[in-house]
Amino acid sequence: MEIKITRAATLKEKPDSSTLVFGQSFTDHMFIVDYYAGKGWQDARIVPYAPLQIDPAAKVLHYAQEIFEGLKAYRTADGSVQLFRPMDNIRRMNASAERLSLPQVPEDLALAGITELVKLEQDWVPSEEGTSLYIRPFIIGVDPALGVHSSHHCQYIVIVCPVGAYYPEGLAPVKIYVEDEDVRAVKGGTGMAKTGGNYAASLRAGDRAEAKGYTQVLWLDGVHRKYIEEVGAMNVMFKVDGKILTPDLNGSVLDGITRRSCIQLLKDWGYEVEERRISAEELFEAAKKGTMEEAWGTGTAAVVSPIGELAEGDEKVIINNNQIGEITQKLYDELTGIQWGRTADPHGWIMKL
Ligand code: PLP
Ligand code: COI
Repeated sequence: MEIKITRAATLKEKPDSSTLVFGQSFTDHMFIVDYYAGKGWQDARIVPYAPLQIDPAAKVLHYAQEIFEGLKAYRTADGSVQLFRPMDNIRRMNASAERLSLPQVPEDLALAGITELVKLEQDWVPSEEGTSLYIRPFIIGVDPALGVHSSHHCQYIVIVCPVGAYYPEGLAPVKIYVEDEDVRAVKGGTGMAKTGGNYAASLRAGDRAEAKGYTQVLWLDGVHRKYIEEVGAMNVMFKVDGKILTPDLNGSVLDGITRRSCIQLLKDWGYEVEERRISAEELFEAAKKGTMEEAWGTGTAAVVSPIGELAEGDEKVIINNNQIGEITQKLYDELTGIQWGRTADPHGWIMKL
């Protein structure tokens, strides 16, 4: 499909890349393509970045018929720009779309929306250490009708923004609170989809944890309120007694692309990785016994983020003396090495633009 480009009349001033924060300044253009039931996708275009014109009755605003993705474009030392596993994001986006009764975007169109926009905005890809261009594709249902039905008119949109570290702490260990009141997802619900409603439902617990001095919450399963699932914007991994533990993909956990990549790297390095049900109790016990060696979160925005403290109710454990662990650092170095093109890419995860 041809993509029509309308350039912005004036270009914005780019933010200073040494002080970038996550997701606050957007580039000059965005990609949009419309879908109409019975007609399919049409009118692919790149237009100046601007507020969307949608009807106040649009489904997305009332019934949250929405899904999104997050990936990054990286500037390498030779000045070129590359993406990390973009097809994995596109396939996950279509799996989320299927769950939310939104139309799937043909993979070549979904990818073209990303690559053509990033090419046009390539001067926005920062080169400062640890910075990148965050890419946010999303699909919304925009039918102006209040009946609870899926939308006939939908839009696939891509916006991009230069970013620095997701957490103000940078690579310093974060403090995580085990949430034992609210739940994020249940089997049969939308936990495995990347959809706005999951995040809306997570905000209250996040606010409460923040007020107690914690960075994010660790969710427990919605049925037993016992088994750990994931953190607000990351999957989690623990090194206990030499083995790596991470919750299995049970239908209510997001199938993280950073998670997948870390599991592959850990296996390459000869570690045993157990994907299984893990109770919060098991983790606190391990920490008290001294067998909890490291803990970290994995996610596109946060990359690999050490966890230095875990708390639930009045109970609190410090992990690895609140220092970044050896495997956490090694995963961070290897993954960022591949992403920024400093290290070989044996698994073919990089797509050059
Ligand atoms: N879990 C949740 C709830 C997330 O929002 C994210 C971020 O995308 C992740 C896990 C990590 O997924 P990925 O590594 O694909 O970014
Ligand atoms: C990501 O890691 O890409 C995310 O989407 C996390 C969060 C910003 C929702």
